[in-house]
Amino acid sequence: MREGRTMTVNQRRQWRSMCKGLVLGTVLTSCMILLYCLSTPQVHFHLPEVPVPYSCAHRPSQFHNKLTTNTSQQTTGQTCTPKVDIMFMKTHKTASSTFLNILFRFGEKHRLTFAFPDSRNDFFYPSPFQRSQVRDYRPGMCFNIICNHMRFNAPEVAKLLPTDTLYITILRDPAELFESSFHYFGRLVPFTWKIPGDDKLTEFLRDPHYYFDPEGFNSFYLKNLLFFDFGQDNTLELDDPRVDQGIKFIIERFELVMLVEYFEESLILLKDALCWEMDDLLFFKLNARKGSTVSKLTPDLRARALEWNAIDWKLYQHFNRTFWKKVDSYGLKRMAEDVAELRRRNAEMANICIEGGHAVDAGSIQETAMQPWQPIGEKSIMGYNLKKNVDKAHRKLCRKMLTPELQYLTELGVNLWITKLWGHVREIINW
Ligand SMILES: *[C@@H]1O[C@H](CO)[C@@H](O)[C@H](O)[C@H]1NC(C)=O
Ligand SMILES: *[C@@H]1O[C@H](CO)[C@@H](O)[C@H](O)[C@H]1NC(C)=O
Repeated sequence: MREGRTMTVNQRRQWRSMCKGLVLGTVLTSCMILLYCLSTPQVHFHLPEVPVPYSCAHRPSQFHNKLTTNTSQQTTGQTCTPKVDIMFMKTHKTASSTFLNILFRFGEKHRLTFAFPDSRNDFFYPSPFQRSQVRDYRPGMCFNIICNHMRFNAPEVAKLLPTDTLYITILRDPAELFESSFHYFGRLVPFTWKIPGDDKLTEFLRDPHYYFDPEGFNSFYLKNLLFFDFGQDNTLELDDPRVDQGIKFIIERFELVMLVEYFEESLILLKDALCWEMDDLLFFKLNARKGSTVSKLTPDLRARALEWNAIDWKLYQHFNRTFWKKVDSYGLKRMAEDVAELRRRNAEMANICIEGGHAVDAGSIQETAMQPWQPIGEKSIMGYNLKKNVDKAHRKLCRKMLTPELQYLTELGVNLWITKLWGHVREIINW
C-alpha cells in the first residue's frame, strides 16, 4: 500500500514536471520560431522554372486607348495606354511611403494584382529577395506591381514579374538620407549604443571608422544604405571596380529613377513614362518627421556624411545628372507648368480632406486608423486628421490619400501579424 502511494506521488510529481516542461518547451519553441521568422529568410522551396508572361495587363478592358489630356501641346491627340506592370524598388527613408500610397490607389483603380509579402510589411529585408516570399506565390502567376521593401535581387524579381515590367525607384541626397536613417534606425544598430554624448550623429561622423563595425548587426543602415538596398556590397572602397559595375547594373535595370528632392518633377516624369493621368499623382506627404527633429546638417557634417557614404553619393550624382537631362527633353517650361498644376491640385485636396489643412503630431491624431508607425523610442512622425464633413464625392479618395502605409496594406488584405506583434511588444515595454 505504502509503496503504491509513494509510486503515485512520484508519478504525480513526474507528471507535473513533465507538464511544466511541456508548457515551457512550447513557449520556448514558439519564441524560437518567432525569432527565426523575424531574423532569417524563409526556407526556399525548390520552385520550378515557368516562363513569365509578357504582360499582366488585363486586356481588352484596359486597352481602350485613352486620349492623353491636354497637359501639353506636344502630346495632344496622341494615344497611349497606362502602364500597369511596375516594379518599384522601395528604398529606405526616401519618401517612399508617400509614393506607395500613390501606387496603392492606382492599383485599386485598375484592379491590379500586387505581389505582397506575407505576415509582415517587407520581403524579409535585409536578406535578398526570393519569389517564394511573395504571398500565395505559385510559378506562372501574373502580378502587376511589387512595391514593398526588399533587398533587390534582379534574377528572382525577373522570374516573378512579366517581361514588360517597368522598373522604377527613388533616391535621396545621401547626406540627408544618412541623417534620417541614423535618426530612425540608429537604435537598432548595436554599435551606436557605445557612442558617447547626446549628439551621437556628430560624434559618429567625427570618426566613423572608429565606431563602425561592418560585421555588426544592422550596420548596413548606417553606410551606403541605397547601394545596399539595390543588393550591392555597401562596404566597398570607392575605387573598387565593383562600385562602378554596381552603378552600371542599376542604370541598365531601372528606367526611371526619381529623386526625393524633386518629388513633383519625378511624378511628372513618371506620368509621362507610364502614360498616367494627373489625377493619379495626387498626394499628401506621409510619414514626415516633425520639424524639430528634422536634420539641420552643418556644411561640415554634410561633407563628412557624403564622404562616409561615398558610393551612394556617386550613385546619386549620376542619377541627378540624368534626371535633369530627362527634364530638359520633357521641356523645362512644360515641366514647370505641370508641377505648378500638381501643386495646385494637391493644395486643393488638402483643403478638402485635411482638418486644419496640415499634418499634426501623433498625439493629436484622433483615429487610430490614421496613426503612422513610429521609430523606436519616440513619436516624431506626423499624421493627419480627416475632416469631419467631407463631401461624398471626395470622401473615399480623402481617406485613401491619408491612410498610412501599414493600415493601407491591411486594407489591401496583407496579414501583418509579425509587424503588429512587434508593435504590441513595443507598446507594452513602452519603447
Ligand atoms: C486640347 O487643346 C486644344 C487646343 O489647345 C483644344 O482645342 C481641345 O479642345 C483640347 N482638348 C481637350 C480634351 O481638352
Ligand atoms: C542636382 O542637379 C541640379 C541641377 O544640375 C543641381 O542644381 C543640384 O545642386 C544637384 N544636386 C546635388 C545634391 O548635387
